Amino acid sequence: MPAMKTQPRARKLLWILGAALGLAGVGPAAPAAGSPRVIALTGDDTMHYNLTEIDARPGEALEVQLTNIGQLPKAAMSHNWVLLRPMSDADVSAFAISAMSKAPDYLPDDRSAVLAHTRTLGPKETDSVDFTAPTTPGTYPFLCTFPGHFALMKGRLVVK
Ligand code: CO
Repeated sequence: MPAMKTQPRARKLLWILGAALGLAGVGPAAPAAGSPRVIALTGDDTMHYNLTEIDARPGEALEVQLTNIGQLPKAAMSHNWVLLRPMSDADVSAFAISAMSKAPDYLPDDRSAVLAHTRTLGPKETDSVDFTAPTTPGTYPFLCTFPGHFALMKGRLVVK
């Protein structure tokens, strides 16, 4: 029967269509569902991030990739990225002070305010952290907790 002969061909066409859709899903123009949006962050020898504001949608999957693009020795100039729950500037400063003696990660013993963080990086080192943006719209401070850096190395994740 002619109808029986057309079925394998139809299945093959469907398979080709599915494969094409699958390939489209991994391209940069159309990320696969669930893959995080990558945020390329740098820290330099002048104690600055390249970004001081990151916008996100509530619950968005994010990946912060921090690279220390400086050249100074790790003991003198390291960087991390620490995202905190909403708090006042004074509380961010208090958090940074509580973290400054806590080498090598420079995170305080009480990490209840920490939503996400990278490792602390020397020159040319990179670290990534995957996390889900908070579902509650608001402003979430981030900073580098390497001693003395938070005054210059800070910014905010704005969820809206
Ligand atoms: Co730093």
